[in-house]
Order: sequence, then structure tokens, then C-alpha cells
Amino acid sequence: MNILATIPKPATKEGRTDPWYGEWFLMCSALTALLLYATWATFQADGYKFGPYRSPFYPFDFKIGRLSPALLVFWVPVLFRLTCYYWRKTYYRSYLLDPAACAVKELKKDYKGESVFPFILQNAHRYFVYLALGLLLIHWKETSASFYHQNVFGVGIGNGLLLVDSIFLTIYVFSCHALRNIVGGRLNQFSCSPCTRARYRAWNTISILNMRHGLWAWISLVTIISADLYVRLLAHGIIKDINTWRTF
Ligand code: FES
Repeated sequence: MNILATIPKPATKEGRTDPWYGEWFLMCSALTALLLYATWATFQADGYKFGPYRSPFYPFDFKIGRLSPALLVFWVPVLFRLTCYYWRKTYYRSYLLDPAACAVKELKKDYKGESVFPFILQNAHRYFVYLALGLLLIHWKETSASFYHQNVFGVGIGNGLLLVDSIFLTIYVFSCHALRNIVGGRLNQFSCSPCTRARYRAWNTISILNMRHGLWAWISLVTIISADLYVRLLAHGIIKDINTWRTF
């Protein structure tokens, strides 16, 4: 039975009578829960490593004073996701109710889009994509390293989760609207040289991924949190990893 269908349906001024607030509530709750966990994990400077596994929140061991590795890099994914076109839509709807859903009245009367401060800063997303690509490389390096324990190759649930996380993070970053523009934009013709033809092929691939950008955004957030949680549960002795090494 569809419970949402039984809830009374207030018509919006714009005429919407379906239970639009159901999707708003789900999105708002899921986003809040994931953000709270991510914030908590960023400040937990112990239990982020186990055997060859390392939480994706802590891509290296380098520290500056009391700043943990997570605190040194967290601003990159935060700024990248905060300015992401999809996440902007999600948190504008969830937290600012601006608007809460399509065809639902906005709270603000003087809508100016993102043309005034501070929203105009969202344009910096096109630069954060380069930082995200750099972090993605480090991410893949750590995922590859998780397959070697004391120089012996092995597979386990832990590096399986880290691999899935790296794959979905890669799809998320490579489905970015700004990256699509960097790769295929500012060209009058795609067919005039081998370089522009290569750009056309890359732009085409990014465009296919881009059609589901919102889905990749959610999945990659869930996979990174799942990988972090798994490593922490191992490190605190709450669960055991199944792997081919059998030495930890
Ligand atoms: S638009 Fe979402 S990551 Fe660039």
C-alpha cells in the first residue's frame, strides 16, 4: 500500500496536488544523515586504517600539527560537492525550500538566481573539478595499495568495497557538468583535427554519464561512507574481514 497516497494533498498555489513533500522529506533526511556521518568521520582520527585498508576519508598519513589527514583534504570534496549542480538543487530544495519541489511556491520573493553574492561563488565549481580529479588519483592509488598486504596480493571484502567506491566516485566526477564543458565546450567544430575528434568522443562519453549525474552523486556518497564505516568496524574489532590473506 502506498502510504504517501493516503496523506491529504494540499494543493499548492501553482496547482500541485500530489504528495511532493514525501520526496522532499526523504531527500532531506537522507542528506542530513549522510552529512552528519561524514562530518563525524572527518574528526575521528583513530580507527581509519586496518591491515592494507584505509578509509577513503584519510587518503594519506601526512599531518600538519594537530590537523589529521582528513582535515587537510576534506575541503576539496566539500567544495566540489557543495558547488555541484546536482547537490545545489538538492540542498536548495531540502534546506532552503527554494523551492521545496517543482511547481511549489518559493519562500523568497526577490528571486535573483545565482547572480548575486554569495551564490555567484558557485561558479567556482569549474575550478574545483581539477582538485577533485587530483584527489581521485590519490583515491585510486590507495585502493590499488589495499590489494597488497606485506607485499602479498590478496582480495577481501574491504578492498572490494574500496574498489566499488573508487569506481562510483570516478563515474560521479566524470559525469560532472563542468567537466563536460571543459572537454567539449568552446569549440566551433569537432571534426577539424584528431584532437577535436578525441574531445568529441570524450564529450560524448561524459554526456552519457551526465544523464544520470544525480544518481552517481548519491551512490558515490553512500559508497564512500560505507567504505569508511567498514574500515572503522574492522579497526575496532566489531567485525572480521573475509580475505585471502587470513593474517589480520
Ligand atoms: S556538476 Fe556535479 S560534480 Fe560537477
